[in-house]
Amino acid sequence: MSSITRLHSRAELRSWRDSLSDSVTVGFVPTMGALHRGHGTLFHAACEGNEVGLASIFVNPLQFNEGADFKRYPRTADEDCALLERSGVQAVYLPDRIDMYPDGYETRVRSGPGSELYEGYHRPGHFEGMLTAVFKLFQRCRPDRAYFGEKDAQQLWLVQRMAEDLDLDVEVIGCPTVREEDGLAFSSRNAFLAPEQRAVAPIVSRALYACRESFTAGERSVALLERGMHDLLRSEPLASIEYADVVDERTFRPADSDQPGPWRAVAAVRVGDTRLIDNLELGDARSPGMT
Ligand code: PAF
Repeated sequence: MSSITRLHSRAELRSWRDSLSDSVTVGFVPTMGALHRGHGTLFHAACEGNEVGLASIFVNPLQFNEGADFKRYPRTADEDCALLERSGVQAVYLPDRIDMYPDGYETRVRSGPGSELYEGYHRPGHFEGMLTAVFKLFQRCRPDRAYFGEKDAQQLWLVQRMAEDLDLDVEVIGCPTVREEDGLAFSSRNAFLAPEQRAVAPIVSRALYACRESFTAGERSVALLERGMHDLLRSEPLASIEYADVVDERTFRPADSDQPGPWRAVAAVRVGDTRLIDNLELGDARSPGMT
């Protein structure tokens, strides 16, 4: 028998949320479904850190800049609900498009310049759509804490900024990236990789780890750190680089050798039609290397 409460509309969500006493803390994990082990750690953190764990599954059309990508995004509702149940999440909100964006819907949440680089540059409109959905979900779910994966580091940073800048009463918590044994970060899009593409996909995390190794060894030239990633990624004919850069993680702007950081290496690489993104924290640029 199913123990998870499925909430299909804003009205159902509201009455479930109103039934909780004010003293109960709610940990929320927004998702687009196609759940995997990476999501599992978010559910675990939400349930551990709060009295009630709540998730949402909504494939948000506003954040897909390519219609084809929206259409082919995996939809695996039954498996998702089974995983949620095993994770101890008590309720899942499953709105449809009309529930989220009724006829006549117009408004968007727009971020500042930090949303225009990297993912924002390569996926125009993506962050506006993502922030709009997350803002609405926060309003509806009224969580005390919300959990996001560090794999989408720029998304996490933007949601943290939005919560701070717009005085949202929710603590936004980042959870570490979960990787396959060969280093590939878990992602719903990994399912699109053909076997020969899956075999080369770990090159992305290898480039990031190589960058961290150089940083740890004392390299502080942003250009050389980036060149190292590019050289390694270019050695793989099936991989095509969108970006492989070092950023200042406080601002999500390009790292500057005169600024302490902390720095983060970020990459987006296409393997066939599949876009893989990943990142790795490098550290404080003022700290001495270990040469
Ligand atoms: O990371 C995701 O799955 C989505 O961007 C999110 C946060 C659920 C918003 O639609």
